[in-house]
Amino acid sequence: MKIDGVHYRSIWLDADGWTVHVFDQTRLPWSLEVLSLGSMEDAARAIRSMQVRGAPLIGACAAYGVALAMREDASDEALERACTTLAATRPTAVNLHWAIGEMRAALQNRPRAERVAAAYRRAGEICDEDAAINEAIGRNALPLIEEAAAQKTCGGRVNILTHCNAGWIATVDWGTALAPIYRAHDAGIPVHVWVDETRPRSQGALLTAWELGKHGVPHTVIADNAGGHLMQHGKVDLCLVGTDRVTARGDVANKIGTYLKALAARDNGVPFWVCLPHTTIDWSVQDGIAEIPIEERDGREMTEIAGRDESGALRRVRVVAEGSAAANPAFDVTPARLVSGLVTERGRCAASAEGLSSLYPERAGR
Ligand code: MRU
Repeated sequence: MKIDGVHYRSIWLDADGWTVHVFDQTRLPWSLEVLSLGSMEDAARAIRSMQVRGAPLIGACAAYGVALAMREDASDEALERACTTLAATRPTAVNLHWAIGEMRAALQNRPRAERVAAAYRRAGEICDEDAAINEAIGRNALPLIEEAAAQKTCGGRVNILTHCNAGWIATVDWGTALAPIYRAHDAGIPVHVWVDETRPRSQGALLTAWELGKHGVPHTVIADNAGGHLMQHGKVDLCLVGTDRVTARGDVANKIGTYLKALAARDNGVPFWVCLPHTTIDWSVQDGIAEIPIEERDGREMTEIAGRDESGALRRVRVVAEGSAAANPAFDVTPARLVSGLVTERGRCAASAEGLSSLYPERAGR
């Protein structure tokens, strides 16, 4: 996707052929800073600190993390150490484990001398595949927006609510939930996006708003608690969100607060669709509430907030009474029954075991 007319991906290799570049997402939207990752530890630190975030991009970065580790030491032990270190960076997004599994499979039975080249090759493929998958998700989800537009009287704009950041900087390119929005906008369909602020880290207010703004998509940032009210007043036609892990029966883990939006959408008859690549499906789990590990993050993300003051300086301030404890679960699980449907690179399906099996028959019964 484009920043001020220039096409970027969210992760790429330097001209030296091995240093990995990403945008430091903790600096957005205040400045666009490129971070150079020169070692596996750099990649692990970037994921842990959320300089790199978003389920598919975490996977892509981990894949390059394995390649960086192989440059230093291509032994079996180093491969296992890299996989273990990277797998421990964040617990909820399953794309991380998928990508590490792909890298291990590509390298483990290969002579050491071939491992660096093979690792960079597979990591590059993972990135290219992610971009192509997300482009297809955008194509497959576009009819949802077209259908909503067709129901508008007098050609009014389609109001879409999204949560967190499921845009191009959360993936290698295009994004998941934002991919159809970019397509609709580019096709001339009048869209407007309600962007949930997404406290405590404010990925909506900081990242989604920045992305949409850079592409010229009309949008309005709202407090996380405003969505239900807007739905009650007919101001949301469609909810589109991404996800960090979908179970084999269609339960959806996504950024904390997604579940409340799905409840409000169901109560108000607003379609609630989830966009995802196949790399986000965890076929080994069924009951998302019981089985998906939910990341607990530092309480300071709740008690403090960072932003720009009137002089332009960046400041971090406390926003919670001194002495109060703060809890910070980073994700929640929306049960499949509240999800109108799933959109993947293969098409649309019901959020159910049958729905997912219809799109991925090779996985049925395994
Ligand atoms: O904690 P984050 O910012 O990595 O969480 C990201 C999300 O929850 C996204 O909505 C999810 O990865 C969607 S997929 C692009």
